[in-house]
Amino acid sequence: MNEVARAVELLLAGDVIGLPTETVYGLAADATQPHAVRRVFAIKGRPVGHPLIVHLADQSWLDQYCVGDLSRAKCLANAFWPGPLTLILPKNPARVPDEVTGGLGTVAVRVPAHPLALEVIGELGRPVAAPSANRFGAVSPTTRDHVVLDLGDRVPLILDGGPCRIGIESTILDLSRDQAFLLRPGAITAEQLSVVLGEPVLENDGQGPQAPGTLASHYAPHARVVLVAPQDLWNTVRALMDGGSVGVLALSGAAPPAEFGIVPGRLDAHGLVRAKELVVYGVQGGIEAAAHDLYAGLRALDEAGCSVIVSPLPELRGIGVAVLDRLERAAAPRPDQA
Ligand code: TXA
Ligand code: MG
Repeated sequence: MNEVARAVELLLAGDVIGLPTETVYGLAADATQPHAVRRVFAIKGRPVGHPLIVHLADQSWLDQYCVGDLSRAKCLANAFWPGPLTLILPKNPARVPDEVTGGLGTVAVRVPAHPLALEVIGELGRPVAAPSANRFGAVSPTTRDHVVLDLGDRVPLILDGGPCRIGIESTILDLSRDQAFLLRPGAITAEQLSVVLGEPVLENDGQGPQAPGTLASHYAPHARVVLVAPQDLWNTVRALMDGGSVGVLALSGAAPPAEFGIVPGRLDAHGLVRAKELVVYGVQGGIEAAAHDLYAGLRALDEAGCSVIVSPLPELRGIGVAVLDRLERAAAPRPDQA
């Protein structure tokens, strides 16, 4: 039996699997089976009541799982699906169990742009509910290996779709109210949404249901994360180096001054270069590359044993807003440190 057929069989039986998407890997269950959805929460260690995103095979499924005026949603779906955009819409309570939505009257839906995900959902004939396939509060997985490390002992199958093309979670737009609110920035920007909608996209005003992915501290590695202006990067690193191993997430190829003894180009299997107490994860390319490598870089620096990770602030163009959002959450004080 091929992997897709096995995935479908497991999902039908109420099992939970690892599924690649273009953003991050998901921990997927048949969204119509409450028992299967409860297992997702248990495996992830996610508090129940934190709603999940429902992944559809096709825009035409919207009418089955959502209710109300779907014209704005369909307009955005035409422009951006399959793709990294999640829409919050009034749910059809007959088709979407409360376990998926944490008891809310709305549901988060998207059509992922990954052929393997689309094949599995299409064959299943039902949507899958899938949060990012990491333990709650930790860094999202962007390769199969990441999922194996986090949850490999807890799920029977993790499909391999290669490294995720985008690397950070979907943009979330709340369309359940009169005005459109951006709940989480992602690869599709507020400006792009606003142009297609023909109306403003507002900042989250906190009046709608709160999304746990919007908790101040989230997406966090074990190491402390420090954000600095690009021009202050190496001075900050110098000042921190007495206190143990320092990791640098070198966005846009920020090259260390010669004094640090880093030989550029000598990457290990995790994309790291080291010199004594300094470990550098170099990102070659612009802001899209920074998004693509963000979680892999945080994970690699964590595994290298860095006690602190320093990152320059990203440029705030396009997906850069979302990169900054995730970096700020990684750098926020943790509940266990507060
Ligand atoms: O790119 C992504 O969106 C990935 C891939 C796997 O699709 N999924 C993902 O799921 O990031 P998760 O569970 O890590 O984040 C889902 C976010 C959470 O912040 C959750 O609170 C929010 O979506 N959410 C889900 N349903 C909601 C609803 N009805 N109202 C408001 N926010 C909702
Ligand atoms: Mg998540």
